[in-house]
Amino acid sequence: MSENFFIGSSLDKKSKYENLLSQLPALIANEPDLIANLANLSAIFHQTFKWWWVGFYLVKDDQLVLGPFQGPVACTRISFGKGVCGTAWKEKRSFLVPDVNNFSGHIACSSISVSEIVVPLFNSSSEVAAVLDIDSEKFGFLDETDMQYLEQIAEIISKSLFY
Ligand code: SME
Repeated sequence: MSENFFIGSSLDKKSKYENLLSQLPALIANEPDLIANLANLSAIFHQTFKWWWVGFYLVKDDQLVLGPFQGPVACTRISFGKGVCGTAWKEKRSFLVPDVNNFSGHIACSSISVSEIVVPLFNSSSEVAAVLDIDSEKFGFLDETDMQYLEQIAEIISKSLFY
């Protein structure tokens, strides 16, 4: 993974995503270690978007296990079909949750987190290999624009790290 990465803090959200998408392939090239790449990606997301919590949960047997992240201490294990993360795994699709109070079964690792997006990452067999989870302390902070870009980013990460 390249250590060179820069996205201007004054850019609007779309420009930050476009910038990230253009730098992403080079960022994860040349580093074969999954955890090293996911750790730096978490740092890049946190640094660029200032999200309250961002990280990865990895599918290990019948659970999601906490992987690299940036933010406060979080739940370490999530079962298949449980919470937003486990539901994204089960249904093999992204979830945008503007208000976690309206998502039945949401797992509150922290009461401060009130909205979230979860995007699955797939392996070459089209099975979920991990999920990207982003939490905000503000209601409705994450939107359709975030989800569209995060799905593009997830596809690149999936093909580079999980295929
Ligand atoms: N809220 C998530 C659990 C993970 S933490 O928020 C980091 C869920 O419902 O799956």
